[in-house]
Amino acid sequence: MPVKKVTMLVNSSDKIGHIHPEIYGHFSEHLGRCIYEGIYVGENSEIPNIEGMRTDIIDAFRNIKVPVLRWPGGCFADEYHWKDGVGPKENRKTIINTNWGGVTENNSFGTHEFLKFCELVGCQPYINANVGSGTVQEMSEWVEYITSDASSPMTDLRRANGKEKPWTLKYLGVGNENWGCGGLMKPEKYVDEYRQFQSYCKNHSGNKLYKIACGPNSSDFEWMETLMKNLDANCVNGIDLHYYTIFDWEKKGHATVFTEEAYYKTLGSANYLDTLLTRHTEIMNRYDPDNRIGLIVGEWGCWYEVEEGTNPGFLYQQNTMRDAIVAGMELNTFNRHSKRVVMANLAQAVNVLQAVILTEGDRMLKTPTYHVFDLYKEHQDADAVYCYNDFMSEYENVPMITSSASVKNNKLTITITNSSLSDSVKIECSTAGFVGSKAFARILTNEVHAYNDFDAPDRVAISDLDVSISSNQIYLELPPCSVASVTIES
Ligand code: AHR
Repeated sequence: MPVKKVTMLVNSSDKIGHIHPEIYGHFSEHLGRCIYEGIYVGENSEIPNIEGMRTDIIDAFRNIKVPVLRWPGGCFADEYHWKDGVGPKENRKTIINTNWGGVTENNSFGTHEFLKFCELVGCQPYINANVGSGTVQEMSEWVEYITSDASSPMTDLRRANGKEKPWTLKYLGVGNENWGCGGLMKPEKYVDEYRQFQSYCKNHSGNKLYKIACGPNSSDFEWMETLMKNLDANCVNGIDLHYYTIFDWEKKGHATVFTEEAYYKTLGSANYLDTLLTRHTEIMNRYDPDNRIGLIVGEWGCWYEVEEGTNPGFLYQQNTMRDAIVAGMELNTFNRHSKRVVMANLAQAVNVLQAVILTEGDRMLKTPTYHVFDLYKEHQDADAVYCYNDFMSEYENVPMITSSASVKNNKLTITITNSSLSDSVKIECSTAGFVGSKAFARILTNEVHAYNDFDAPDRVAISDLDVSISSNQIYLELPPCSVASVTIES
């Protein structure tokens, strides 16, 4: 097998950002089998659950330290009316989920269930409220219902529904994709709507909201420019950009059956995120040089054609080593942009798009993408430090190696992807400013089409990787198609 040599440099004294744990966030929408038959099976299910939430999913999320979960959409958010989803389940109104398969939504999973799930996982809730078809009053009352400890019709309703004390809610999204499914608005119109809606979302009883505006679709720089020109840190805390890895908009391609060319095109599309974040950051820097407004990537991940025989509106796709490489690349990109990027949410958590978990009846599996989040979890809440490698592949816009590094509690963590399908890579990495005494490494590697299914749930799994250390140098070899993490202790 051909072997390439790569020299890397990490400078642990050169802090480039702080990796907010929320960069490792996820997204759960009322779409297909993400909530129902996914996270939520109901209290009467034979599948082990706590108040209807699957315990195996709770455990899996806790293991990768899911820091934040976005809900209820997505496009669903702008047709969601929260009062339909509270109170006795038998009285809850049904609606048609017009965006996703036209199925009937029975609203048995609502505000209480979502916030309970977050509590069980130990993550922060990110509630995305309805601008497109909702009202200012409805959004304002939802915030009051969740966060106020005063006496009012909304808080009395919450208490009557079994929750005496308010919850803490930090992340509040004001509309989703309002340039598209959330009302097809022009940026000027959305800015006005945003200003009005957010005015009535109050900080009750000591709760402090972090208000998030709907950001641009991919490279819609005009949307970002209009938002930044008209909003400031007094009324917005974060801007939520959406970017999907789609290598061909006409034909999204199959998740598990793909050519080498499709693989590298997918990686080219994933790598564009780096340019996109640089350009949006440049716009934000002009208006907000003090970095008071965070950039959020509230939806990201690979989007393919649905698996044969499944509902096209349910967006169910398998997940291979290709997805793991994309996840490793994108998470490295977020870490390197962590001066401005404060949160990212993979789309979506369970059974939808680039999910970390797939379920079938009582069976559950962790996808290759899940394992990448496991490999990278040490980065959460660490300081991102300078990490240099410059090794492009022979394919246009596709780096053969990507990496990022961070320091926390006297530990240096470096994560690396090798996207080559033919070459292994010998890495010699200098760790300037950090003298290590011991190092250990873990790796995810397999043939690029490999995936986990319900009969072979551990086909793609993490294993240990040899790494040697000598003062401030480490040496390791990554096989083709691999994602690795190295932890060095001083
Ligand atoms: O994640 C699927 C959909 O993609 C979301 O509902 C929407 O926000 C985006 O277009």
